[in-house]
Amino acid sequence: MTKRTRNIILIVIVVLVVLGVGMSKFFETNYSCGKICHEMGIYYDTWEESSHAEVACHSCHSWPGFTGFFKTKLVGMEESIKHMTGNYAVPIQGEPVLERCIECHSNYLEIKETESIKVDHALHDSLSIDCMGCHAGMVHGHSGEGEVKPSHDTCSSCHDTDDFETCDTCHNW
Ligand code: HEC
Ligand code: HEC
Ligand code: HEC
Ligand code: HEC
Ligand code: HEC
Repeated sequence: MTKRTRNIILIVIVVLVVLGVGMSKFFETNYSCGKICHEMGIYYDTWEESSHAEVACHSCHSWPGFTGFFKTKLVGMEESIKHMTGNYAVPIQGEPVLERCIECHSNYLEIKETESIKVDHALHDSLSIDCMGCHAGMVHGHSGEGEVKPSHDTCSSCHDTDDFETCDTCHNW
């Protein structure tokens, strides 16, 4: 191989790496996640209005760690292909990675009550109810109709919420 060909190959590699890193960074932005693909628009709009508007899409929708990085990139590529071929379900399917919730809310096991309601997080965690068991719809709503907060329906599958003798199980009055 001549020196010249070697240099050309080196330059091509550097350009590809720079492009790759740049594109990969771009595809992590909220704009790219939510605005480029029109089928995502509803998720961007609801997110913007939600309690997590300051939290990037990727903070909830990516896997942690070294292998998580590659898993996230692979899923991202798969989604781009689905977008380009139009081969996707509406509403878009996908779930947050619940380990990510705990990275920010590392004290969640200590939450026993909030300003408005008693709910022992450690106790329910020990019953294997995950965050979405109660916080479903938290960011986008169930199908993108906007933020949903826990309500009586959230609890009534397991608790009696109609018996006036036991309202104070959950309420402070
Ligand atoms: C990058 C950090 C981050 C991640 C990831 C994150 N949150 Fe939050 N969360 C916040 C911040 C900041 C607030 C607003 C300030 C506060 O109340 O602490 C908040 C508020 C909340 C609230 C109270 C407001 C509300 O909407 O009811 C709940 C519940 C909550 N988060 C649950 C979750 C769950 C469940 C997940 C995972 C799907 C999650 N969070 C992921 C940072 C984060
Ligand atoms: C058994 C139901 C249930 C489960 C399971 C649950 N939560 Fe909650 N959580 C609630 C309720 C109810 C509230 C109060 C909502 C309100 O005040 O409107 C709450 C409030 C919170 C808050 C806000 C605390 C505050 O002081 O305002 C955070 C943060 C939170 N949850 C995080 C989580 C995370 C993270 C998970 C999963 C690891 C989780 N929760 C699982 C029911 C649950
Ligand atoms: C704080 C965490 C959090 C952030 C930030 C977040 N999401 Fe989500 N996302 C969720 C949760 C939780 C669900 C599951 C739906 C639900 O709430 O039941 C979800 C579901 C989705 C889905 C699948 C829809 C479904 O119902 O299965 C898409 C698509 C999506 N989000 C896109 C986005 C985009 C785009 C952004 C940024 C503009 C974003 N999300 C930011 C938590 C988050
Ligand atoms: C999947 C079932 C399930 C769901 C959903 C659920 N809980 Fe529970 N909860 C339990 C079980 C089981 C216990 C422990 C047994 C008991 O005391 O009833 C419990 C206990 C509690 C306690 C303590 C009761 C006591 O006697 O001190 C509170 C408060 C509570 N839950 C609040 C809530 C709230 C608020 C919601 C909805 C946001 C909720 N739970 C949703 C199953 C559930
Ligand atoms: C298992 C827990 C649980 C029990 C038992 C329960 N509630 Fe609630 N209640 C909730 C949750 C969760 C919310 C929604 C979160 C909030 O408003 O803080 C709520 C909200 C409410 C609200 C406010 C509604 C709103 O939309 O603002 C009223 C009023 C209320 N409950 C009345 C009652 C009465 C009356 C009883 C007894 C007959 C009762 N609740 C029993 C969990 C419970």
